[in-house]
Amino acid sequence: MCGIIACIKTKGLCTYLLNGLKKEDYRGYDSCGIGFIENEKIKTIKTVGSIEILKNKIKDEEFTIGIGHTRWATHGINNVENAHPHISNHGLFSLVHNGTIYNYKDLKKELIDLGFSFYSETDSEVIVNLLEYEYGITLDVKKAIENVISRLKGTFALCILFCYEKRIYFVRNHSPLILGIGQNIFTLLSDVNALQDEKAYINIDDLEYGYISDDSYQIYKNGKKVKKIIEEKEVEKENKNKLNHVYYMEKEIEEIPSMINNLLNNIKNIDLTKIISQIDNAKKLIFIASGTSYHAALKAQSFFDKEKEVIIASEFYTTKYQIDKNNCYIFISQSGETMDVLKSLEYVKDICNNTLGITNVKNSSLYKNTKSQLLIYAEKEIAVASTKAYINEIMLLYIVACNLKKQNVIYYDDLSIISNERKEKIKNIAKTLKNKNNAIFIAKGSDYFLALEASLKLKEVSYIHSEAMYAGELKHGPIALIEKNFPVFVIGDIKENEYLNSAIEEIKSRGGLVYQFNYDHKNSLSFIKIMEEFFYLAFYTALFKKREIDKPRNLAKSVTVE
Ligand code: AGP
Ligand code: GLU
Repeated sequence: MCGIIACIKTKGLCTYLLNGLKKEDYRGYDSCGIGFIENEKIKTIKTVGSIEILKNKIKDEEFTIGIGHTRWATHGINNVENAHPHISNHGLFSLVHNGTIYNYKDLKKELIDLGFSFYSETDSEVIVNLLEYEYGITLDVKKAIENVISRLKGTFALCILFCYEKRIYFVRNHSPLILGIGQNIFTLLSDVNALQDEKAYINIDDLEYGYISDDSYQIYKNGKKVKKIIEEKEVEKENKNKLNHVYYMEKEIEEIPSMINNLLNNIKNIDLTKIISQIDNAKKLIFIASGTSYHAALKAQSFFDKEKEVIIASEFYTTKYQIDKNNCYIFISQSGETMDVLKSLEYVKDICNNTLGITNVKNSSLYKNTKSQLLIYAEKEIAVASTKAYINEIMLLYIVACNLKKQNVIYYDDLSIISNERKEKIKNIAKTLKNKNNAIFIAKGSDYFLALEASLKLKEVSYIHSEAMYAGELKHGPIALIEKNFPVFVIGDIKENEYLNSAIEEIKSRGGLVYQFNYDHKNSLSFIKIMEEFFYLAFYTALFKKREIDKPRNLAKSVTVE
């Protein structure tokens, strides 16, 4: 969600900025732009749509200091005026912003009363004008930034150009920002994936600010210089590109078996003793996550015999769930950067430090801010729709639960290999499904948690409206939707479960299309196979509908706003 890049470079800066934005584009965006300084004047080029369109709008611009942004709109529609960068009224400052400012309306009113004008609907334009106003009083950029920080309520990663200086200023509060370090080059970026020539980086923490220049950088907090740890960039695994796949989503579904093995191999070398006793000693386990990771938590909690609860992150902190110091709070997030999850973590940590972070991204905010951490070893997941990470999140929690119960981890490789024949069958269902506007997934017991994820996946990538429900609930309302050829997917063993059967009869007698998906319920992990099937179903349906599979509209890989 939103990508930021800023850099000072003597040659090829424009290409460098565009390449960086491209590397961050998986985060999701709807418009983009760059800003740069030419003869002490700030210039801006921006567009609605892709980085390719932006590239075509840029002529032969040569500049050595610039900022770039991909916007995921939160305040104001997707148009050129709202795209970033935003310039202050007198052209002194320009900035790109990731995040949301809660008190922007009050600040905007204040600035309008002071004579400022606004050209966009964004909260971000308020920041750049507030900065110009503060600079007018202090005549010192650093002091002006400090004053701005003290006035802003909300989340923000900012990169700022000041027309008279060859420095790029930055600030971070809750939204991700790193400082890349290369030979004679410093950059500011939203995430490590966008590092290019830089071999190392620094994680900028909340309320830190500073600047980069062509030969140095400085970081401050509360007016004092801070020294930070420089992290080495991890060497990229070759496995990053799509190889012979057109879509990352398909590649990542295919990787599920190998990623499970990757997790099993890595976890062998990790001493789980401390984490097991952390969980064992807790009165209750509270799992907190969003979206697909929430569905993973719902499924995985069934492996634990302890008292437990699974809560959606956005509900957890906003409705102020009661915190009990004797509980263990387990946060699950593929990216480790989901704002709702991080806000929930912050909320828990005010009272209780018994936290465990489960993520795919080492050194992510979740990883760094929890008491203990476990990685899911699913390697990089690029498609916005999560597949292999969902499976590895469940697998990891299964391994933890087995360790807790002192049981062996039983995993058979062939569980997750889908035959070509089965894939063909799923393709055929997808061919029918592509012409439908709605679908329902029904199940009983903990299979309902699988239905939730199967339904979400279909919705995300194909844009077909879909709902998941307990089979017995169908007759209490949703059955009104069932008409001739309405598609209903049933998860579970119809031979074993008479209640599932009666729901199927109810659907059939109203002309509905029933597709049954079953697995061996005696084996804790054989559900993986049908989840892979549902992932393929979503993928093929989206493919036939010619959707932007890897980057569905309005979605972002990492949701860094509330
Ligand atoms: C995944 O398919 C979704 N795009 C989304 O629900 C996602 O799972 C959610 O935003 C949480 O992300 P996280 O696991 O990185 O925290
Ligand atoms: N709130 C800002 C806007 O709507 C920034 C959004 C973003 O993080 O991309 O423009």
